[in-house]
Amino acid sequence: LRIAVLASGRGSNLQALIEACSDGRLSARIVLVGSDRRQAQALQRAESAGIEHFSLDPKAWPDRAGFDVALFRRVAESRPDLVVLAGYMRILDAAAVEAWQGRMINIHPSLLPRHRGLHTHRKALEHGDADHGTSVHYVSAELDGGPVIAQAMTPIRSDDDETRLSERILQLEHQLLPAVVRLIADGRLQWRQGMPWLDEQ
Ligand code: GRF
Repeated sequence: LRIAVLASGRGSNLQALIEACSDGRLSARIVLVGSDRRQAQALQRAESAGIEHFSLDPKAWPDRAGFDVALFRRVAESRPDLVVLAGYMRILDAAAVEAWQGRMINIHPSLLPRHRGLHTHRKALEHGDADHGTSVHYVSAELDGGPVIAQAMTPIRSDDDETRLSERILQLEHQLLPAVVRLIADGRLQWRQGMPWLDEQ
């Protein structure tokens, strides 16, 4: 499986994928890492792992649609079977989403459909939720709204704050994302009729 990863920041989920590929848990190859931020740590991680990488500055394009055309042109050149949004913080243009439907997944730090968008850990705490977690889902036109593939959960403790909770969620993400990509790489998870399908095996 050829994977392209888009990331805007720290890139710890990218790192989890890099490690899963290099230690053989994942029979896949990360062929490209792209970012909308030149300073993203994700790009340094790609560099250290010897993975082709690039960044494009959104300010150089007049609008979102134009930027996304340029971004996904680069992505398409690497001929990925799967695009993984791993902390990619820009909303995608509808045409890009449409073109990659069923071949693009995102990891979002909440138990969707709860808490779409930003500051999910704060929202879960403020809301008094009993539990919190992370979701991997196919990307659709609706922000954080595509079909959920898998989730991992942790109970919220009385002494949790945003930092503690986010650290725990991140640990779960580093397990969940490679696990989902592995299902796809092994051909066990497919996109059929607008839904994730898990083969019985
Ligand atoms: C993760 O919590 C992910 O769910 C969210 O952004 C964060 C990215 O972290 N979309 P990192 O850049 O992978 O370390």
